Amino acid sequence: MAVQDRKRLVVGISGASGTALAVHLLRVVRELPGWETHLVISRGAEITIGEETDLSVEEVKGLAAAVYDNDDIGASIASGTFRTEGMVVIPCSMKTVAGIYSGYTDNLLLRSADVTLKERKPLVLLARETPLSTIHLRNLYELSRLGVSILPPMVSYYHRPASVEDMTHHIVCKTLGVWHIQVPGYRIWQGRKNIHAE
Ligand SMILES: Cc1cc2nc3c(=O)[nH]c(=O)nc-3n(C[C@H](O)[C@H](O)[C@H](O)COP(=O)(O)O)c2cc1C
Repeated sequence: MAVQDRKRLVVGISGASGTALAVHLLRVVRELPGWETHLVISRGAEITIGEETDLSVEEVKGLAAAVYDNDDIGASIASGTFRTEGMVVIPCSMKTVAGIYSGYTDNLLLRSADVTLKERKPLVLLARETPLSTIHLRNLYELSRLGVSILPPMVSYYHRPASVEDMTHHIVCKTLGVWHIQVPGYRIWQGRKNIHAE
Protein backbone atom coordinates (compact mmCIF):
# COMPACT_ATOMS: atom_id res chain seq x y z
CA MET A 1 0.00 0.00 0.00
CA ALA A 2 1.28 3.44 -0.94
CA VAL A 3 2.11 5.70 2.00
CA GLN A 4 -0.48 8.28 0.92
CA ASP A 5 -3.21 5.63 1.04
CA ARG A 6 -2.60 4.67 4.64
CA LYS A 7 -5.31 5.69 7.09
CA ARG A 8 -4.11 7.99 9.82
CA LEU A 9 -5.57 7.78 13.30
CA VAL A 10 -4.62 10.64 15.61
CA VAL A 11 -4.06 9.35 19.14
CA GLY A 12 -3.95 11.68 22.13
CA ILE A 13 -2.85 10.38 25.51
CA SER A 14 -3.84 12.66 28.39
CA GLY A 15 -3.22 12.38 32.10
CA ALA A 16 -6.14 10.25 33.24
CA SER A 17 -5.66 6.82 34.68
CA GLY A 18 -5.58 4.10 32.03
CA THR A 19 -2.40 4.65 30.03
CA ALA A 20 -2.23 0.87 29.47
CA LEU A 21 -5.23 1.35 27.18
CA ALA A 22 -3.24 3.73 24.99
CA VAL A 23 -0.22 1.43 24.91
CA HIS A 24 -2.41 -1.48 23.87
CA LEU A 25 -4.24 0.53 21.21
CA LEU A 26 -0.94 1.67 19.70
CA ARG A 27 0.27 -1.94 19.60
CA VAL A 28 -2.95 -3.21 18.02
CA VAL A 29 -3.09 -0.53 15.32
CA ARG A 30 0.59 -1.09 14.51
CA GLU A 31 -0.36 -4.59 13.34
CA LEU A 32 -3.30 -3.43 11.22
CA PRO A 33 -2.54 -3.25 7.51
CA GLY A 34 -3.30 0.15 6.05
CA TRP A 35 -3.48 2.06 9.34
CA GLU A 36 -0.98 4.23 11.19
CA THR A 37 -1.06 6.23 14.42
CA HIS A 38 -0.12 9.88 14.88
CA LEU A 39 0.58 10.41 18.56
CA VAL A 40 0.57 13.37 20.92
CA ILE A 41 1.17 12.94 24.65
CA SER A 42 0.17 15.56 27.24
CA ARG A 43 2.39 16.56 30.16
CA GLY A 44 -0.09 14.90 32.52
CA ALA A 45 0.22 11.65 30.58
CA GLU A 46 3.99 11.70 30.89
CA ILE A 47 3.41 11.42 34.64
CA THR A 48 0.72 8.73 34.47
CA ILE A 49 2.75 6.64 32.01
CA GLY A 50 5.52 6.59 34.63
CA GLU A 51 3.11 5.76 37.44
CA GLU A 52 1.07 3.09 35.66
CA THR A 53 3.34 1.28 33.21
CA ASP A 54 6.81 -0.20 33.03
CA LEU A 55 7.46 1.73 29.82
CA SER A 56 9.28 5.01 29.43
CA VAL A 57 7.58 7.84 27.56
CA GLU A 58 10.10 7.29 24.75
CA GLU A 59 9.12 3.62 24.52
CA VAL A 60 5.45 4.57 24.23
CA LYS A 61 6.33 7.07 21.50
CA GLY A 62 8.16 4.27 19.70
CA LEU A 63 4.86 2.44 19.20
CA ALA A 64 3.45 5.17 16.94
CA ALA A 65 4.11 5.87 13.27
CA ALA A 66 4.53 9.60 13.96
CA VAL A 67 4.93 11.58 17.18
CA TYR A 68 4.35 15.27 17.85
CA ASP A 69 5.36 17.53 20.73
CA ASN A 70 2.37 18.75 22.72
CA ASP A 71 3.78 22.30 22.59
CA ASP A 72 4.13 22.24 18.80
CA ILE A 73 0.99 24.09 17.81
CA GLY A 74 2.31 24.23 14.23
CA ALA A 75 2.44 20.43 13.79
CA SER A 76 0.58 18.84 10.88
CA ILE A 77 -2.19 17.43 13.10
CA ALA A 78 -3.00 21.02 14.14
CA SER A 79 -4.34 21.67 10.65
CA GLY A 80 -7.62 20.67 9.07
CA THR A 81 -5.82 20.15 5.77
CA PHE A 82 -3.94 17.15 7.19
CA ARG A 83 -5.88 14.06 6.10
CA THR A 84 -6.92 11.83 9.01
CA GLU A 85 -9.69 9.39 9.86
CA GLY A 86 -10.35 11.13 13.16
CA MET A 87 -8.95 11.14 16.67
CA VAL A 88 -9.13 9.15 19.87
CA VAL A 89 -8.10 10.55 23.25
CA ILE A 90 -7.21 7.52 25.35
CA PRO A 91 -7.48 7.93 28.26
CA CYS A 92 -9.09 11.37 28.42
CA SER A 93 -8.77 13.44 31.61
CA MET A 94 -11.49 15.78 32.80
CA LYS A 95 -9.14 18.71 32.20
CA THR A 96 -8.83 17.70 28.56
CA VAL A 97 -12.60 17.12 28.35
CA ALA A 98 -13.09 20.68 29.62
CA GLY A 99 -10.52 22.02 27.17
CA ILE A 100 -12.18 20.33 24.21
CA TYR A 101 -15.65 21.43 25.27
CA SER A 102 -14.62 25.05 25.72
CA GLY A 103 -12.44 25.21 22.60
CA TYR A 104 -9.46 26.22 24.74
CA THR A 105 -6.71 24.89 22.50
CA ASP A 106 -3.57 25.78 24.43
CA ASN A 107 -1.73 22.58 23.54
CA LEU A 108 -1.44 20.40 20.45
CA LEU A 109 -3.64 17.62 21.82
CA LEU A 110 -6.48 20.08 22.42
CA ARG A 111 -5.92 21.83 19.10
CA SER A 112 -6.00 18.52 17.25
CA ALA A 113 -9.26 17.53 18.97
CA ASP A 114 -10.67 20.97 18.10
CA VAL A 115 -9.66 20.46 14.46
CA THR A 116 -11.24 16.99 14.43
CA LEU A 117 -14.48 18.56 15.66
CA LYS A 118 -14.47 21.42 13.17
CA GLU A 119 -13.70 19.04 10.32
CA ARG A 120 -16.59 16.85 11.56
CA LYS A 121 -14.52 13.70 11.79
CA PRO A 122 -14.97 11.03 14.46
CA LEU A 123 -13.69 12.15 17.85
CA VAL A 124 -13.70 9.49 20.54
CA LEU A 125 -12.97 10.24 24.19
CA LEU A 126 -12.16 7.47 26.65
CA ALA A 127 -13.11 9.87 29.40
CA ARG A 128 -12.06 8.61 32.81
CA GLU A 129 -12.73 9.87 36.31
CA THR A 130 -14.71 8.56 39.23
CA PRO A 131 -16.93 9.75 40.68
CA LEU A 132 -17.96 12.20 37.98
CA SER A 133 -18.85 15.70 39.17
CA THR A 134 -21.73 17.68 37.74
CA ILE A 135 -19.18 19.77 35.81
CA HIS A 136 -17.68 16.62 34.25
CA LEU A 137 -21.12 15.29 33.36
CA ARG A 138 -22.19 18.65 31.89
CA ASN A 139 -19.07 18.83 29.71
CA LEU A 140 -19.44 15.22 28.53
CA TYR A 141 -23.13 15.72 27.81
CA GLU A 142 -22.48 18.83 25.75
CA LEU A 143 -19.69 17.12 23.79
CA SER A 144 -21.98 14.17 23.13
CA ARG A 145 -24.56 16.59 21.73
CA LEU A 146 -21.86 17.84 19.34
CA GLY A 147 -21.37 14.32 17.98
CA VAL A 148 -18.36 13.31 20.05
CA SER A 149 -18.29 9.63 21.07
CA ILE A 150 -18.01 9.41 24.84
CA LEU A 151 -16.57 5.97 25.43
CA PRO A 152 -15.54 5.69 29.07
CA PRO A 153 -13.27 2.72 29.74
CA MET A 154 -15.91 0.81 31.65
CA VAL A 155 -15.33 -2.84 32.36
CA SER A 156 -17.71 -5.47 31.03
CA TYR A 157 -18.00 -9.07 32.11
CA TYR A 158 -20.11 -10.77 29.44
CA HIS A 159 -16.99 -11.79 27.49
CA ARG A 160 -15.66 -13.52 30.63
CA PRO A 161 -12.37 -11.62 31.05
CA ALA A 162 -9.71 -13.61 32.86
CA SER A 163 -7.33 -10.70 33.41
CA VAL A 164 -6.91 -6.94 33.33
CA GLU A 165 -5.28 -7.46 29.93
CA ASP A 166 -8.48 -9.12 28.66
CA MET A 167 -10.51 -6.12 29.84
CA THR A 168 -8.03 -3.70 28.29
CA HIS A 169 -8.15 -5.58 24.98
CA HIS A 170 -11.94 -5.58 24.97
CA ILE A 171 -12.13 -1.81 25.53
CA VAL A 172 -9.53 -1.13 22.82
CA CYS A 173 -11.39 -3.36 20.33
CA LYS A 174 -14.63 -1.57 21.17
CA THR A 175 -12.91 1.77 20.59
CA LEU A 176 -11.53 0.75 17.20
CA GLY A 177 -14.99 -0.48 16.27
CA VAL A 178 -15.94 3.19 15.85
CA TRP A 179 -13.78 3.04 12.70
CA HIS A 180 -15.26 -0.35 11.75
CA ILE A 181 -11.95 -1.98 12.55
CA GLN A 182 -12.40 -5.62 13.46
CA VAL A 183 -9.49 -6.80 15.55
CA PRO A 184 -8.81 -10.52 15.09
CA GLY A 185 -10.01 -12.49 18.09
CA TYR A 186 -12.43 -9.83 19.32
CA ARG A 187 -15.65 -11.50 20.33
CA ILE A 188 -18.57 -9.23 19.65
CA TRP A 189 -21.92 -9.89 21.26
CA GLN A 190 -23.82 -12.21 18.93
CA GLY A 191 -26.96 -12.55 20.96
CA ARG A 192 -27.56 -14.75 23.98
CA LYS A 193 -28.05 -18.02 22.10
CA ASN A 194 -24.75 -17.79 20.22
CA ILE A 195 -22.74 -16.87 23.29
CA HIS A 196 -24.14 -19.90 25.14
CA ALA A 197 -23.44 -22.08 22.13
CA GLU A 198 -19.71 -21.25 22.21
C1 LIG B 1 -1.61 8.86 38.75
C2 LIG B 1 -2.59 9.90 38.31
C3 LIG B 1 -3.85 9.51 37.89
C4 LIG B 1 -4.78 10.45 37.47
N1 LIG B 1 -6.01 10.02 37.06
C5 LIG B 1 -6.89 10.92 36.57
C6 LIG B 1 -8.15 10.46 36.06
O1 LIG B 1 -8.46 9.26 36.04
N2 LIG B 1 -8.98 11.38 35.53
C7 LIG B 1 -8.67 12.72 35.49
O2 LIG B 1 -9.48 13.49 34.98
N3 LIG B 1 -7.49 13.18 35.99
C8 LIG B 1 -6.60 12.31 36.52
N4 LIG B 1 -5.38 12.76 37.00
C9 LIG B 1 -5.13 14.20 37.03
C10 LIG B 1 -4.65 14.74 35.67
O3 LIG B 1 -3.44 14.13 35.29
C11 LIG B 1 -4.45 16.26 35.78
O4 LIG B 1 -5.71 16.89 35.94
C12 LIG B 1 -3.73 16.84 34.58
O5 LIG B 1 -3.62 18.24 34.76
C13 LIG B 1 -4.46 16.56 33.29
O6 LIG B 1 -3.83 17.26 32.25
P1 LIG B 1 -3.89 16.75 30.74
O7 LIG B 1 -5.31 16.49 30.42
O8 LIG B 1 -3.31 17.87 29.95
O9 LIG B 1 -3.06 15.51 30.69
C14 LIG B 1 -4.44 11.84 37.45
C15 LIG B 1 -3.16 12.21 37.84
C16 LIG B 1 -2.26 11.27 38.27
C17 LIG B 1 -0.86 11.72 38.70
